Formats: sequence, structure tokens, C-alpha cells
Amino acid sequence: MKTPVQFSLNGEDVATFAEAGANLLDVLREAIGDLSVKGGCWQGTCGTCTVLIDGVPRLSCMTLAETVNGRSVETAAGLRNGADLHPLQNAFMERFAAQCGYCTPGMLMAAKALLDRNPSPSREDVVDALCGNICRCTGYEPIIQAVLDAARGGARRA
Ligand code: FES
Ligand code: FES
Repeated sequence: MKTPVQFSLNGEDVATFAEAGANLLDVLREAIGDLSVKGGCWQGTCGTCTVLIDGVPRLSCMTLAETVNGRSVETAAGLRNGADLHPLQNAFMERFAAQCGYCTPGMLMAAKALLDRNPSPSREDVVDALCGNICRCTGYEPIIQAVLDAARGGARRA
């Protein structure tokens, strides 16, 4: 049985039908076509599927799609402003904070949530915010430095 699901995705209203019990990760990718959201473990342990729901980082693989009805969902696909990358995306490039890139969308969204609520985080704040996101390539330091660079440059956008 399918259930209607309607929500705001990166500021645009979207509507679809989801199987009862479907998770948000699969609905975003398969029904909506937002392939910026990645699935790694589908078990709530890797963080690569992190999206923001009403501004709070959530694991989309652990979120029932029907629970986002009427809410705001943000994904990495919405970070860019036209041709302009988000400051976090620029900082990740400059710091070589992505290698295979698989973890990057989840890292970016967890970092965005941090900088939205705390524009001047300490290194410990960044480590704490990203502690649920696994990266198998970078050793984490470039990612931490990229988030701190973005904060220093003013990652919040008007
Ligand atoms: S795919 Fe969601 S935590 Fe790994
Ligand atoms: S860049 Fe490859 S898993 Fe993080």
C-alpha cells in the first residue's frame, strides 16, 4: 500500500507516493530523483545518508518517509546557489577533503547543520558534529580543517 508524502525539498514543494515503511533515503533517490543523497550501510551506522529535517541532521535511512510530511528536508543538492558553490563545498575542494567523495554529501550536511547553529565552532565542536559520519579515505583532518575554514570565511548564506 502506498502513502502520499508531501514536503519541502531544498525549498521546493515535492509530492510522491511511498510504500508503507519506506525510508526517506530510498524515496529521495528513487521516487524524487535526488541522487545527492547516498546510502552506505542502510543500518544507521555510517552517516553518509545524512540530510537535514527542519534544520536538524537526521539519518535518512532510519527515517520513515511518511514522517516528513509537511516538513523541510535539505540535501546536498540544495547547497549550491546557482553557479556558486556553498562555502563548505569550496572549502572541501580547497582542503582536498573529498577523495572518493562517497561520504561527502553526509559530511557537508552535518557540517551545515553545525554552522547554521554555531557559526564559530571550535575544533572540538566540529569533531563532535561529524562523529557519526564515517570516511574511509581522508583520515578526517582535511574535513575538519575545511569546516573550520568555511566557518572562518562565513559559511552562512543570506
Ligand atoms: S546509509 Fe544511513 S547511516 Fe549508513
Ligand atoms: S572521501 Fe571516500 S569515504 Fe570519505
